[in-house]
Amino acid sequence: MAKPSISKVENAFQPAKEINSATRFAGRKKSVGDAYYGLIAAGSHIAIVGNRGIGKTSLSRQLINIATGDNDLLEKLVLPHDEKLDFQTFYYACGQTTTDTTALLERLLTSSGCLGEWVTQIPKASKIVSSYTPRFGANILGMKVALDGEKRTEVESSAAIGSHSIDTVFTNAVAAIVEQKLSKDGILIVIDEFDQIGDPSGFASFLKALATNVPEIKFCIVGVAQDIQQLMKEHQSSNRLFAGSIIPLPSMSSEELREIIDIAESAIDNYLTFNTDAEERIISLAQGHPYMVHLIGKYAFRLAYQAGKQVITVEDIEATVQSIAEHGSDPVLEGRYKKAVASSEHREIVLKALASTQADDGEVWTTNAYKLALDQGVDNASQYVGHLASDEYGGEIVKMRDRYYRFSDSLFAAYVKARPRLVSKQG
Ligand SMILES: Nc1ncnc2c1ncn2[C@@H]1O[C@H](COP(=O)(O)OP(=O)(O)OP(=O)(O)O)[C@@H](O)[C@H]1O
Ligand SMILES: [Mg+2]
Repeated sequence: MAKPSISKVENAFQPAKEINSATRFAGRKKSVGDAYYGLIAAGSHIAIVGNRGIGKTSLSRQLINIATGDNDLLEKLVLPHDEKLDFQTFYYACGQTTTDTTALLERLLTSSGCLGEWVTQIPKASKIVSSYTPRFGANILGMKVALDGEKRTEVESSAAIGSHSIDTVFTNAVAAIVEQKLSKDGILIVIDEFDQIGDPSGFASFLKALATNVPEIKFCIVGVAQDIQQLMKEHQSSNRLFAGSIIPLPSMSSEELREIIDIAESAIDNYLTFNTDAEERIISLAQGHPYMVHLIGKYAFRLAYQAGKQVITVEDIEATVQSIAEHGSDPVLEGRYKKAVASSEHREIVLKALASTQADDGEVWTTNAYKLALDQGVDNASQYVGHLASDEYGGEIVKMRDRYYRFSDSLFAAYVKARPRLVSKQG
């Protein structure tokens, strides 16, 4: 067993990165199958929804691979498939500047990683986009046409009639790209972090019109949400638009989480391994979140490698979790934890009691949590529950109905359960 390089060990788990390759992608047979059917279903858009850190971006990356003819994952999962698909694919992750549907469509059309490059290369498309003035002045695309004196006149003349809405411009521009028949199956546009869009109103009706006008374009929208209505922030049903291609990503099963560990071990030829108890401990701490397995796994490998140990035990996992907390290895989760606890021993006890009394559906019955907190000397737990639900302490829990709460983010709940105590016993 040759000693692997530090970088191999460091990258065996990847908490900070989605999974691109089929070999590293664990489980998810049903979701991948559903995504594949969504791809081949004519006129249907796809939506991937689920909790934070559950694997949405990774699944969307696999979808892009499949859409561009890479059938490795379908083969690995033994999912029936036939000829290779041939989509032109684009991936776009929304950020804070993607405030609404107009901003989104503008970004998709102009960013070079997305349609922008094609828009500039296909004269008909660039002409259409240039007509969308004044918003897309000559410089917005950084387009060659705009820099070219002769074409600038064209830009200006079309500007006179350029009162089209962005919907129309987008539709016409993509129609011009589709006309070029650059790919057999059309265009797939993945929009990740769709939940970041403050006001996505109008997007559903845009998609509906697009399905009629340019059926060769397929969107896959991805984001943190329980369902499609929540993601689209629309009350009316958007179900039909997605014609059965809504993929809610559930928590991963123990087998799937174990596979992540196996894949990481094989990436370094089993030079470092977890013993069975350690593996079970990680799986139980992860609470169905692949992210937690990668986070704990990465630091467990690092510590073992540094200590010259090859078999990782439960004690090592406890030490790893402690080190993750102390070093703020996930600064966001750690920051939220500190904000919720805010140096109060009792609030920390209540927070942990809530996390460990979650039912399978994630709901917490306060009677159970209070009992657990009382066992640890907190007799006024309800007061702390009030704190934890308030913005001042991060609003990490929400009241469902009388005496029932839930964590708004199940990944945070898993972190709370896993993290060792921050505030030591007072007095
Ligand atoms: N099927 C999988 N097999 C192995 N690891 C996975 C799988 N899915 C996700 N992961 C890992 O879990 C972590 C979270 O994945 P990913 O970024 O895809 O989730 P996400 O739902 O998009 O998260 P966020 O809500 O933060 O955007 C990453 O470390 C990724 O490598
Ligand atoms: Mg993501």
